[in-house]
Amino acid sequence: MKQIKVLVIGSGGREHALAWKLCQSPVVDEIFIAPGNAGTANIGQNINIAAGDTEALMYFALDNNIGLTVVGPEVPLTLGIVDLFEENSLKIFGPSRLAARLEGSKLFSKELMERTGVPTAAYEKFTDAEAAKKYLKELGPRSVIKADGLAAGKGAIVCQSEQEAIDAIDLIMNERAFGDAGDTIIIEEFLEGEEASFIAITDGKTILPLATSQDHKAIYEGDTGPNTGGMGAYSPAPIVTPEMEELVMQTIMTPIVEAMAKDGTPYKGILYAGLMITTGGIKVLEYNCRLGDPETQPILMRMENDLAELLLAATEERLSEITLSWSDKTALCVVMTAEGYPGSYRKGEVIEGLSDAADITDAVVFHAGTALEGNLVTTNGGRILGITGLGSDIEEAIKTAYTAVEQIRWDGAYYRRDIGAKAIKN
Ligand code: AMP
Ligand code: GLY
Repeated sequence: MKQIKVLVIGSGGREHALAWKLCQSPVVDEIFIAPGNAGTANIGQNINIAAGDTEALMYFALDNNIGLTVVGPEVPLTLGIVDLFEENSLKIFGPSRLAARLEGSKLFSKELMERTGVPTAAYEKFTDAEAAKKYLKELGPRSVIKADGLAAGKGAIVCQSEQEAIDAIDLIMNERAFGDAGDTIIIEEFLEGEEASFIAITDGKTILPLATSQDHKAIYEGDTGPNTGGMGAYSPAPIVTPEMEELVMQTIMTPIVEAMAKDGTPYKGILYAGLMITTGGIKVLEYNCRLGDPETQPILMRMENDLAELLLAATEERLSEITLSWSDKTALCVVMTAEGYPGSYRKGEVIEGLSDAADITDAVVFHAGTALEGNLVTTNGGRILGITGLGSDIEEAIKTAYTAVEQIRWDGAYYRRDIGAKAIKN
């Protein structure tokens, strides 16, 4: 078997999980992570290049004979890293710049959903703040205001009253909180229901759903308080039944992949639909062009396939040859954050107990915002660690993950104690 060198781009828990799974593959000879974190440094070599510096990454891949590049976050994808690598005959997994508009522009994504009949919240687009505010009168008190472009996951503001919506419009359009990303906004009807993540891999022709998953977005227990990138996740998600999975494939995944192929901008890579399961059916909140974080951590803990083989098959348009297989176990990830996240937080706290946590059977400590200072692992972001446990059912997975979490300490560590409660309820 020909061995290759792999480059993983990004520095979060998702990228640590990708590197962890890739390094188990007999196809992978060496692994580099740019820029990585203290956890990825134990798996491969961290390279000090930012995820958004697409040109420097391309030269690194050329100089180091990288056989496969795997992109974690959306920003390099929307900047066209896949196009740049392919122009230089480098193999890379992910959608092209034009295909990544599915996440990069909410308006593009809404218009495509409209055209292909994918169920989604009703909306209007605006480039003028006053016109946007006038439209609010036509809606009920609740609405969702979204910046068209990328805003580091903060561009969707759920509003409970007309005044909150007016403030959100001012924040995005007048104070320009997200810069050019807010030149156009979308105002959406508020959807009531339970969210689930539906993540698939596609080569533009074949679409293979990954194991089902669900994350807990809110910062506080009981799913209350502001939304974060994700405070925990688990797989499988009991709310997504096999019938629902089939329906989502038919009505939400296939129409998009087919339309993009027909439009001459084929979609290859990860296609992630954020779903709202409402009493009126399943609706799409948004598409992402990347894996979810922290959903990736539990999903990859359950994956039985060789991830390198899978990603190579996708880049070479051979996904029809692959059958995905998953452990029957449940995996659950508890995210530990710095106090203050998703607002401001301090960095540089020393993390203790990592090796005790790693000693817990069936638990894996995935790093996110961590750095190495000499021999010490320190906090270096908002979401710090994603402790992931496997169990024969959700209760056992919860027990494994929290037993490992309890080994870890730093000044100001925070985590939710109810990750998985939503799964038990279902
Ligand atoms: P988005 O970036 O579009 O996925 O939005 C981020 C989060 O905002 C989602 O995960 C939901 O929690 C919430 N959200 C977005 N759109 C809606 C909607 N139309 N109704 C209710 N909540 C929404
Ligand atoms: N966990 C939500 C996301 O990755 O967008």
